[in-house]
Amino acid sequence: MESPVTEPNLAHFNMDRLPPDLQRQLTNVYQSSQLDNALEANRIYHGDARELLAQIQPNSIALSIWSPPYFVGKEYEADLTFTDWQNLLSTVIARHYAIIKPSGFLVVNIADILVFKDPAIPKIQAEVVSNKRSPVTREDVLKAMSEHPHYNRYQIAKLLGCSEQTVDRRLNGNNIRGGKYETQSRVKIVGGLIEEWGLNAGFYLYDRRVWVKDAAWENSRWHSSSYKSVDEFEYLYVFWKPGITKVDRNRLTKKEWREWGSRAVWHFPSVRVNDNHEAKFPLELPRRFIQLLTEPDDIVLDCFMGSGTTAVAAIQQQRQFIGIELIEEYVELAQSNVQKAIAQGCQLTLPLDED
Ligand SMILES: C[S@@+](CC[C@H](N)C(=O)[O-])C[C@H]1O[C@@H](n2cnc3c(N)ncnc32)[C@H](O)[C@@H]1O
Repeated sequence: MESPVTEPNLAHFNMDRLPPDLQRQLTNVYQSSQLDNALEANRIYHGDARELLAQIQPNSIALSIWSPPYFVGKEYEADLTFTDWQNLLSTVIARHYAIIKPSGFLVVNIADILVFKDPAIPKIQAEVVSNKRSPVTREDVLKAMSEHPHYNRYQIAKLLGCSEQTVDRRLNGNNIRGGKYETQSRVKIVGGLIEEWGLNAGFYLYDRRVWVKDAAWENSRWHSSSYKSVDEFEYLYVFWKPGITKVDRNRLTKKEWREWGSRAVWHFPSVRVNDNHEAKFPLELPRRFIQLLTEPDDIVLDCFMGSGTTAVAAIQQQRQFIGIELIEEYVELAQSNVQKAIAQGCQLTLPLDED
């Protein structure tokens, strides 16, 4: 249920000094209707982000930071078609506009889809010459055939000490036994879609960074049979909701500004032990954005909460959080990680209080 519209809170800012059209725009952005029974801070909710986001208090979230399903075949996204996936992300982004505070941020961590199945791609088998195990060449086969014109392929193979398939491939090329049967894949760039959905929602792309993680050799089936690179970076898209952004250079030390605050490329490893959740991001990722873009007690949202990493980062920095997660087992995992962070926080803050 919605209560009356609240007046914009611009107490620290003299609106009268602005041109009238900007005054109107700002008043519209800052004004919001208040929800009764809105989701409470410092809790993790079980459910679908698309439904639960609508129950968050308008203009209440300083930062929403999340990593959604990437459409790369993880267990929790196995049922999604590409259209479903696009609907999920565009709806979730659209639902954010009302709940982010004016001047607040939405950070999306995502990667391109490196194995995007496209039926239009011709099914041409690559000729991986470096994988050829037999030293027999096409010239060897042709020479043997001219010296033994009555030999069949099996006899030629025996003579050359190789298999009949090798003779066949040397004569006819790799593809003669048929092209590939499965649908081929290409790279799908995701950034343009995210940008479009953000703009449609009313946000503006404020910044973009790249997170360089470790090279995923073991995950790349193709690195030894093509010229493609292995997967080793992801994107961080920072959207801004119009409003008066407070810029406080004291949020980071000079060293932090130099090392990462002002840097577009971030280097830190991914989570190697994905024993209880298959796609956790490292604590350092939400930690940096929380430090950079929020103040103590601000509410940080993650609507694809997974194992609770964002909530833990928020607690460690004395921020509040709201989490949403579809899978119950992960809700429990996140709750248990939150409890651990609170317990550790107590241990950490007690000695400091005594100083
Ligand atoms: C990439 S993982 C996020 C992992 C998280 N950042 C962490 O560090 O643990 C995406 C999560 O979104 C959840 N999810 C998928 N669809 C969802 C939906 N419609 N609503 C809420 N959560 C969803 C998945 O269950 C999964 O835990």
